[in-house]
Amino acid sequence: MYRFKPELRIPGPVPVPSEVSLQMARPVINHRGAVFKEKFPDVLSRLKLLFGTENTVYMVTGSGTAGMETAVSNLVSPGTPVLCLVGGFFGKRWAELCTAYKAVVHVLEFPWDRGVDPDQVAEFLAQHPEIELIFAVHNESSTGVLNDIEAISRARGDHQALLVVDAVSALGGTPCEMDARGLDVVVSASQKCLMMPPGAAFIALSERAQTYMEQSEASRYYFDLRRYQQFLEKGETPFTPNIHIVFALEEALRMMEAEGLENVYARHLLMRDMARAGARALGLELLVSDADASPTLTAVKFPQADEFRQRVRERYGVEFAGGQGVHAGRVFRIGHMGYATPLDVLTALAVLEIELKKFGRATEAAERVMAAQ
Ligand SMILES: Cc1ncc(COP(=O)(O)O)c(C=O)c1O
Repeated sequence: MYRFKPELRIPGPVPVPSEVSLQMARPVINHRGAVFKEKFPDVLSRLKLLFGTENTVYMVTGSGTAGMETAVSNLVSPGTPVLCLVGGFFGKRWAELCTAYKAVVHVLEFPWDRGVDPDQVAEFLAQHPEIELIFAVHNESSTGVLNDIEAISRARGDHQALLVVDAVSALGGTPCEMDARGLDVVVSASQKCLMMPPGAAFIALSERAQTYMEQSEASRYYFDLRRYQQFLEKGETPFTPNIHIVFALEEALRMMEAEGLENVYARHLLMRDMARAGARALGLELLVSDADASPTLTAVKFPQADEFRQRVRERYGVEFAGGQGVHAGRVFRIGHMGYATPLDVLTALAVLEIELKKFGRATEAAERVMAAQ
C-alpha cells in the first residue's frame, strides 16, 4: 500500500496552510517583551473585521469550549435565568455549561436537522421577561445547520436578554456582522475557518455585554475578561498565551485579507453547493434542507456511516467526521471550511463515489462531476 497524503475533511480541526505552519515553528519569544506587546494588540484588532465589530476582541488560550466557558463564567452567576437554544450537540454544550455554573436553565429544543425557529424564541421570551441571557449556535457543527442568527437576534424585540453566540465553526466562513446584527457576545476558535491549529479562542462583547460582564457577580479566574482587558491595554495577556497562535493568526489574516473576505465567503458557499449537488447526484440523502445548509460542513445520512468512514480512512487517508449525539453512527460529515478549495470537495466526492460502489450505490462518474460543476 502506498503512503497517504492525509486529507482532513472534518469540520475542524482543518488543514493548515504551510505559510501558517511555518509561523508555528518560529522561536519562542517573551510574552512580556517588546516584540509581543507590539504585535499582539495589532493582530487581535484585525479580527474585528471578521467579527464585524468595533469592540475589542480578546484571546484566551484553550479550545473553542474554553471560549464558551469564558462567556458563561463571565456572565452567569448562580440563579441567572438563561435560555439555551438547542438544535444539536453544541447547543447542548451551552446548556451543560450554564448548568455547571448554576444558572436557571431554560431550554428550547429544536429538531437536530433544522434551524432554530425565531418565532418560538419570540413566543418564549414574551412569557419569560426575566431571561437575562440567550445562548445560541451560529453554525451547528453536529448537524451542518447554519442558524439565521440575525432573525434570532431580532426575535428578542425589546426584550432585555443579551444574545451569546457560538461562532466556533462559522467565523471566517460566513459573515458574522456582530454589531449590525446586535449579537452581544461572539465566541470563536483558531482551528476552524481561521486555518490555524487548535489552541486559542477569541471572544468579543457588545458594550451592553461588557457592562453586564463587569457588574456580574460571577466567579471566575483564568477566564476573567476584566483581567484580559487590563492586560490587553499593555499588549499582554494575564497568563502565558499561545504565542505561536498569535504568529499564525497574523499570517492567516494576511491570507484572508489578500483573498478578500467577500471571496472567502463566496468560496465557502461554492463548496457547500458542490458538496450538496455532488452528494445528491450520488443518491445520498442530506441531513438538512437547502434553506438551513451550512457553508462550512455538510452532513450526509448513511446507515453504515462509521464502517464507511473507516474504509475511506484506511484506503485513501481521507477523514470524514462521524455523526454526533442522536446522529451517531448514522451520519457522516464532510468539512469544507478554512483552508479548503473546490478542488478538495471534488476529491472528497471522487472518494465517496468510488467507495459507495462497494456499498452497492453505484452511479456514473460524469454525473457526479457534472453536478458538482
Ligand atoms: C460549533 C462548535 N462549538 C464549539 C466547539 C467546541 O470546540 P473545541 O472542541 O475546540 O472545544 C466546536 C468544535 O467542534 C464547534 O464546532
